[in-house]
Amino acid sequence: MIHHDILIVGAGLAGMRAALAAPPHLSVAVLSKVHPVRSHSVAAQGGINAALGDKDSWDAHAFDTTKGGLYLGDQDGIETMCREGPGDILELERMGVIFSRDDQGRIAQRPFGGAGFPRACYAADRTGHAILHALYEQLMKRGLKVYEEWYVTALMVEDGVCRGVIAWDILHGGLHALSAKAVILATGGSSRVFLTSTNAVINTGDGMGLAYRAGVPLKDMEFVQFHPSTLKNTGILITEGARGEGGYLLNTLGERFMKHYAPEQMELATRSTVSLAIGREIAEGRGVEGCVLLDLRHLGRERILERLPQIRQLSLDFAGVDPVESPIPVRPGAHYQMGGVSTNQWTETDIAGLFAAGECACVSVHGANRLGGNSLLETVVFGRRAGQRAGEYAETVNWHNPSGSFLRDEQSRLQRLVRRKGQVWAWELLGELGEAMNQNLGIFRTRASMANAQETIQLLKDRTRGLTLRDKGQTFNTDLIQAQELGFLLDVAETIVAGSLAREESRGAHYRQDFPRRDDANWLKHTLASWSSTGPNLSYTPVKITRFPPK
Ligand code: FUM
Repeated sequence: MIHHDILIVGAGLAGMRAALAAPPHLSVAVLSKVHPVRSHSVAAQGGINAALGDKDSWDAHAFDTTKGGLYLGDQDGIETMCREGPGDILELERMGVIFSRDDQGRIAQRPFGGAGFPRACYAADRTGHAILHALYEQLMKRGLKVYEEWYVTALMVEDGVCRGVIAWDILHGGLHALSAKAVILATGGSSRVFLTSTNAVINTGDGMGLAYRAGVPLKDMEFVQFHPSTLKNTGILITEGARGEGGYLLNTLGERFMKHYAPEQMELATRSTVSLAIGREIAEGRGVEGCVLLDLRHLGRERILERLPQIRQLSLDFAGVDPVESPIPVRPGAHYQMGGVSTNQWTETDIAGLFAAGECACVSVHGANRLGGNSLLETVVFGRRAGQRAGEYAETVNWHNPSGSFLRDEQSRLQRLVRRKGQVWAWELLGELGEAMNQNLGIFRTRASMANAQETIQLLKDRTRGLTLRDKGQTFNTDLIQAQELGFLLDVAETIVAGSLAREESRGAHYRQDFPRRDDANWLKHTLASWSSTGPNLSYTPVKITRFPPK
């Protein structure tokens, strides 16, 4: 059996930040299903928030975050994130992140939706890329062990304590038990539960599924953010930074329609407001081929090339449009899971020795609607805290070899899967799941649409009993990995639908046409979905309110 003091599952920003914050004298390893710089954090574009400006303050940031999240975020966690954020940005800069600069040579900041100040620090429109590579350099400098292209299939939890993971070595094949005093889940999001999303194909809710099956509740899963601007057909992210730089949204009448929905904030209203507005324009026939238009032409070629070079290239390559000359066709798309593995603000879960940070976790700091630029901040603040707290924990516990039955059970389960003969393919079920979620759990939801999705998910779960692999081999068996991902995505989908059906109100990203109003009297509370053999059991827990009473 392999041993480490701390094992981090996921090598995106949260995972690598956790690894760098863990005490250097401990044995720390990172395990990732892809090479670290292929983690989805690399795709983050527009910025990372922190109150660095002279007139800005962390409590103004905390207020914007709380209000933008429709008061569903836990304010103790929000305060922590906003108070500690500026220090973390400066730390990133010291690690070598090349942020864009303002005229005075300070870290430049651009306006983002729902923010009272220009607060998003950026590296052109490749902010995630810049940070991820700097953290990876630090990881290499520290010589930390990385299990590249290993995939965790199960957690080893005994007597309420997490003692490690079971993982498949994708390159060579074979299951391994890795024991650890502390395990940090940092596996990112789950938006691949939708057929089209801004997420990479790797974002399959693995960490959420692992924790859920081990007995940790998933919190607030009904809140899936639809980013207002994703590229026509492909759903590739077109950063909010484009609107932050002054881009307009136009309907088919050539009208800046946001004046009807958010006359003061216009295109920089919060994401749920802008996405709903675009959805309505399209539904009421004022769209342009299922999209609206994002116009950047007035910014001029020079500014587009300096601040938004990737957006220009993506528009050229994937939509055949040069934003210097023509508006970009965009529409809302699934982007971010506000919910996740329930943790406190030290990233601790209900299972001793198990921590979670980043998008797979729900502290909760985003409430019902995340502000753009707060996800990267969450990864570095809570990734760091996870590394620190897991380190403190690991120093207090003794080694305990987990039972060999964990490995044997997983081996038999995978062998049964590999040997099964049949005609049910994971890719087919994934497609049907994504289609059902796209159709029924989009920006507008009704009881009937969600019940449809629920029925489809149940049928798909039944069909997984006949799941078959075409590839029976050991080496780089992506069929095998996809079958595991399908299982996690079905778990995630079930919790999204169950939470959404139960929540009879509209709040942030959860908009029900049959309950269009926010209802604080009955629903200012977190949903907790706990695993059971018959589907998620729901319970509720109060929101922590410290300084900002709901309005
Ligand atoms: O629009 C964007 O650049 C995305 C940022 C975010 O989701 O925080």
